[in-house]
Amino acid sequence: MSTLQFILENTTLDRTDARVILCHLIEKHFSWPRTALLSRNTEILNPFFIEEWRDLERRRLFGEPVAYLIGMRPFHAIELRVNPSVLIPRPETELLVDIALERINELRCKHPTKKIRLLDLGTGSGAIALALAHADPEIEIHATDISFEALKTAQENARYLNLYEQVEFHLGSWYEALDLSDTKQFDVILSNPPYIHPADPHLNQGDLRFEPVAALSDQVNGLNCIEVILKDCLQYLSPGGSIAIEHGFEQAASVSSLMAQNGLLAVHHFADLAGHPRVTSACSPTL
Ligand SMILES: C[S@@+](CC[C@H](N)C(=O)[O-])C[C@H]1O[C@@H](n2cnc3c(N)ncnc32)[C@H](O)[C@@H]1O
Repeated sequence: MSTLQFILENTTLDRTDARVILCHLIEKHFSWPRTALLSRNTEILNPFFIEEWRDLERRRLFGEPVAYLIGMRPFHAIELRVNPSVLIPRPETELLVDIALERINELRCKHPTKKIRLLDLGTGSGAIALALAHADPEIEIHATDISFEALKTAQENARYLNLYEQVEFHLGSWYEALDLSDTKQFDVILSNPPYIHPADPHLNQGDLRFEPVAALSDQVNGLNCIEVILKDCLQYLSPGGSIAIEHGFEQAASVSSLMAQNGLLAVHHFADLAGHPRVTSACSPTL
């Protein structure tokens, strides 16, 4: 006899994971709300439901991330579709979105009529660009990625979230992806680049084993992508514009030196909820 109650009492999965997967399945199969996990937990489930549950339970026990199994991940105030071609957006990256919103507010106070232009380098699922587009419909947003499949996922997310008009997507490496005929600079540049050292054992653990390695590691020294992004950023930042980069908690000092070496000012670290410095921002000189 299979009911939601029976499944929850007998699975060896982590309880939270089991609940998230079951909520996804009851919505998909029956269009029931999440509350059905309690209110309809004694109803007999059909064989298609049970078959799919067993498949997802087996894959989760094998280690596949819940976000890939259900194809969705909440991020900031939006929900993103995700698949193994994109990094699963992390809560730490929401910090980058909040820093950008604060910076945009400051810029608006100084220049109320200016159209703010923002660039998200290495957009993946579109997490940063789309969370910002959702939060502020007035920003002009450009997003790049070197992965065709990732950019396709970001574009699908933009369509599904009805934000397609506001974000322009560019395929290619960092700034090279941008249209050369577009000479206008950006007021804010953001990036969560691959920053894990290739020898870091975490790459072979947990969810990371299933995520695209090119989204996680630069395959050099963990700082290579950040160096490339910072080397050319003054060319693309408007005077007094801001850049903010996510990095590993042991990379803050190296990132601030790189920022200073590349002529950026007002370097500032931001800590995640655990108190580790995970984002560093800086400004370009004003004219
Ligand atoms: C850590 S993931 C971040 C994804 C997304 N911004 C997020 O925060 O969830 C890094 C992204 O950078 C992209 N990437 C790697 N090398 C790149 C390059 N040379 N130019 C542009 N994007 C690159 C990867 O494909 C991946 O989508």
